[in-house]
Amino acid sequence: MDIKGSVALVTGANRGIGLAFARALHAHGAAKVYAGVREPETFRDPGLVPLRLDVTDEEQVAAAARAAGDVSILINNAGVASGPSLLEGPFDGARREMEVNFFGTWAVSRAYTPVLAANGGGALVNMLSVASWVANRRFPSYAASKSAQWSLTNAFRLALREQGTLVVGVHAGYVDTDLTADVDSPKILAADVAEQTMTALLNDEPEVLVDEPTRHVRAALSGGLEALYANR
Ligand SMILES: NC(=O)c1ccc[n+]([C@@H]2O[C@H](COP(=O)([O-])OP(=O)(O)OC[C@H]3O[C@@H](n4cnc5c(N)ncnc54)[C@H](OP(=O)(O)O)[C@@H]3O)[C@@H](O)[C@H]2O)c1
Repeated sequence: MDIKGSVALVTGANRGIGLAFARALHAHGAAKVYAGVREPETFRDPGLVPLRLDVTDEEQVAAAARAAGDVSILINNAGVASGPSLLEGPFDGARREMEVNFFGTWAVSRAYTPVLAANGGGALVNMLSVASWVANRRFPSYAASKSAQWSLTNAFRLALREQGTLVVGVHAGYVDTDLTADVDSPKILAADVAEQTMTALLNDEPEVLVDEPTRHVRAALSGGLEALYANR
């Protein structure tokens, strides 16, 4: 599909991977890029149009779909990693992960389904993770929320086929953002995630495997559990 001349919306676009997505869309010639942010008053970035959007607020989601009805590329990027450890701690953070990562993605996708249809089909991109496919003992509920979001992505791919919407799942291991500030492992750059996603959009590809750990896990899925969980 074309990015040049399109109108795009990225959720959670004020920092991290979301900001990289928004800037990449602008750099690839999108005519307008809405930056979905929780505090539009404090957001300024050349070429991006701030749009108030807390993905867990149903009224804001509906208002955003009305205000930005010209969108043909939607990127669900907003996400949190706030859950407790596996064996102790309150569940509040885990519930928050499901609210933002899963229900937030669902709410925005649902609200924008008719908008994408009205604008020729377009694309719906969900920012997923290698954790969609492999459990993580440090972030068990985050991984579960990403598995749920992956399943949702596939359901939307089936449901939106008739209206011609390209549905893309983007999977990555560790990316260098605030979310992984406490993680001491190799990380790729947010701009790299964004650029590979632009390439997938241009080539109508439904899945982006951003880094080597992700490609390894994807391949290991068809093997046994031993291969999948080796070295973890
Ligand atoms: N970093 C990684 O290693 C990695 C790897 C794979 C996938 N991901 C996924 O990539 C996405 C972006 O992550 P990131 O690393 O860029 O994280 P980040 O730097 O922590 O940024 C998270 C973004 O999500 C926004 N957000 C959080 N809750 C929101 C809500 N209720 N409504 C709207 N926006 C909300 C934040 O807005 P505020 O500034 O207002 O809080 C911020 O813009 C997430 O879905 C994450 O799961 C990250």
